[in-house]
Amino acid sequence: MSEKSEKTVTVIGCDGRHVSTDAAKALGLARTVIGAPRHLEAAPIPPGAERVELRHLDEALNTLVRSPGPAVVLASGDPGFFGIVRAVRARGIVPAVIPAVSSVALAFARLGLDWDDALVLSAHGRDPGQALAAALAHPKAAILTAPGTAATLGAALRVAGKQVYIAECLGTSQERVAAFDAAADPADPADPNILISLGEQQRNEPRWLAGHQGAPPGWALPEDAFAHRDSMITKAEVRALVLARLGPGPGRVIWDVGAGSGSVAIECARFGAHVIAIEADQAQCERIASNAATHGVRVQVKHGRAPEALADLPPADAIFAGGGDHAVLDAAIRHARPGKVAVTLAAVSRVAGTAALLTAHGYRPDGVQLHASRLSPLPNGQLRLAAENPVFVMWGHR
Ligand SMILES: C[S@@+](CC[C@H](N)C(=O)[O-])C[C@H]1O[C@@H](n2cnc3c(N)ncnc32)[C@H](O)[C@@H]1O
Repeated sequence: MSEKSEKTVTVIGCDGRHVSTDAAKALGLARTVIGAPRHLEAAPIPPGAERVELRHLDEALNTLVRSPGPAVVLASGDPGFFGIVRAVRARGIVPAVIPAVSSVALAFARLGLDWDDALVLSAHGRDPGQALAAALAHPKAAILTAPGTAATLGAALRVAGKQVYIAECLGTSQERVAAFDAAADPADPADPNILISLGEQQRNEPRWLAGHQGAPPGWALPEDAFAHRDSMITKAEVRALVLARLGPGPGRVIWDVGAGSGSVAIECARFGAHVIAIEADQAQCERIASNAATHGVRVQVKHGRAPEALADLPPADAIFAGGGDHAVLDAAIRHARPGKVAVTLAAVSRVAGTAALLTAHGYRPDGVQLHASRLSPLPNGQLRLAAENPVFVMWGHR
């Protein structure tokens, strides 16, 4: 590393265990020590050093920049993992970092679980909905909670059928690791804490990439990858464009309104999105659930007729309407308030109205007619073109 700071700043991670020799040495030389009260209390700080309680990050960093001599910042766990190192570097300081064990590693260790397949999610300083959506869609997740958010997040995960654990005050005398009790007093979880969420489908194969695997190995899967009825399925070529326009991924909520076989919903879930498939027909709902299980993903199936069935759903980042009339699309946009909408239409007469509806809701409408002709073998071994029905794909982003 060629980077150098003029002043020595050491960021020391704390996990409740004894301070290492290197950390004790840095503390012994420090003129300023910045940290949360609990970390300042526990660290061997020389009497001459100024102690600065870390209450507001910006103020603490100002103090760090102004401090005259060697300084130490105390932080929880591994300060380079969802910690203070990024903020310190943003102030032009290249710190020495002495990490401790991350609270995430500790939480999984306390449960005796491996975690290279876990998503690690932060609900700090942002809408916790994103962390919740990612945890709902993934079989194993840890959530770094913001103070006071654990009860709501834990309850939502329990309602969705996840097994949930809470790890409070790890490495302290108040440490508690227990199954999350949704019925307990919401004020109960002690901060800081971590939620661990486990789904039914744990994968046991060895991993080479931690967390989410990124895009699936393929998409726009053939129709026969999904059980479906009477060819009521979005065709692969059309699905490819719809997926591209919806932009699924971990932490994104997507509604598939009138989901049919669930092919679009399931493909979005394969990218890691939390998908809610809304479907009026009970047999189709069962088909969606079984198709999702075949593909090893979780899709929340909402049985009911839109627009009534949409009323209690959480907002979405994107919605797909593979059928349905303008009233349904209008209601879906009003409820979901999505950034992206994609619609497929067979009827020419509905194109202008859909464009007008998207415009009225503040989207820039766009669209294309897709008319795919697939290669198909002839008895003599030659290839012919077999035409699929033309479909309009319309979309709007805002
Ligand atoms: C800003 S993150 C810092 C994570 C830290 N860098 C690490 O590796 O543990 C703060 C969050 O970590 C979790 N956390 C930190 N210390 C903890 C502890 N002792 N017990 C349980 N959770 C802890 C909590 O979710 C807390 O809200």
